[in-house]
Amino acid sequence: MDLAYMAALPPMEFVERRQRLLALMPDNSALLLFSAEEKIRNRDCEYPFRQDSYFWYLTGFNEPSAALLLVKQAREGHTSLFLRPRDPEQETWTGKRLGVAAAPKRLFLDSAFKINDLDAVLGKTLENLGAFFYCPQHQIWGNALLSEQINIELAQDWQPWLDEMRLIKSNNEIRLMQQAAQISAFGHIRAMQQTYPNRMEYEIEAELLHEFARFGARFAAYNSIVASGENACILHYTENDQVLRDGDLLLIDAGCEFAMYAGDITRTFPINGCFSAPQREIYELVLQAQKQAIALLTVGTTLGEVEQEVIRIITAGLLTLGILQGELNQLIEQKAYRAFYMHGLGHWLGLDVHDVGNYGENKNRPLQEGMVLTVEPGIYISPEAAVPVQYKGIGVRIEDNILITEYGNKILTAAAPKEIIEIENLMNSHKRS
Ligand code: GLY
Ligand code: MN
Ligand code: MN
Repeated sequence: MDLAYMAALPPMEFVERRQRLLALMPDNSALLLFSAEEKIRNRDCEYPFRQDSYFWYLTGFNEPSAALLLVKQAREGHTSLFLRPRDPEQETWTGKRLGVAAAPKRLFLDSAFKINDLDAVLGKTLENLGAFFYCPQHQIWGNALLSEQINIELAQDWQPWLDEMRLIKSNNEIRLMQQAAQISAFGHIRAMQQTYPNRMEYEIEAELLHEFARFGARFAAYNSIVASGENACILHYTENDQVLRDGDLLLIDAGCEFAMYAGDITRTFPINGCFSAPQREIYELVLQAQKQAIALLTVGTTLGEVEQEVIRIITAGLLTLGILQGELNQLIEQKAYRAFYMHGLGHWLGLDVHDVGNYGENKNRPLQEGMVLTVEPGIYISPEAAVPVQYKGIGVRIEDNILITEYGNKILTAAAPKEIIEIENLMNSHKRS
């Protein structure tokens, strides 16, 4: 697998990232970062391995039980990887390992050691250095490899540096994220085409995964939400085990992971291919808010500002529909919309679906070219809500992935239909005969 990934992102990109990080480090310091570890699902069965995003970002190396050490001394940078040694017998059981001898050349590193030598090498290295950058709360399994000679309490956190680097995507990253978004959109198109009453939610989940895999994305970036009817009002519904009922909506929040980058799309559509009048009213309101939000996202605006505009649109719309009663400004001030729109407008997207990066206080950080974020307003009307009966149990979210560009933005997920007419046409041209 790592060969395919190396092909997707030029190896020099990993080298440049390490160089940029080394440039931020003070002279006479070291920085340590661990890979992810394998996780047991039950007894001796493991979850599929997923590399730690920070570690991947700096190495492009996809094995567990590894660590990266950066040392800056006399203004010179030195990069070392600690990894599992080759072991032909073990490899017969659990797969090939890169090994110590091949690692430096393959990954453009200065040196490589066995992971079991980490404590000794690090202890010796730190003797001559002033500062140590490490993030113990992020590196649970790695902490156990470090003896008392390494005082991790005194370590300084590398997270702010790396979060800032990861927040602004390079051209190569944008290319991969466009692909992740596109494949995710294909998954949603297939889901729309394959949805009809009496199928199970998990069957539609399988349709998504099938389409992702067809385009080279073996895994979803997060657990898919396939929520029919009032299940859509449970924000993180992942049981996906109910039958699809004629007349209900289906909310799907799913995205693939392609070359380690996440897509994150939500679409909501009618199981029978035709929106009812109340479904249409709620849907159009969410769509209007979402499109207005996207129109506002550009260099210099803030997520907080755009969020306020979305709150205004949604509150005004709920007032018009008789779902809220009162005076618009007062309702906004009282956060009356919170009963029906209870999450944020969006989040950074990248190697992690909820990607790292500072949002600023009250999300007041001006947007910059190269940031990628989601825009995902929603309205969720619980069956118990005191609202006109036709709206009870309706949940709608519409989510796209947006790249901030020099002059505005680009919707990376534009291939997934969201206009009512497009959705109905797509679904009805694929009706089962
Ligand atoms: N899929 C998680 C989210 O939309 O934030
Ligand atoms: Mn989502
Ligand atoms: Mn999202």
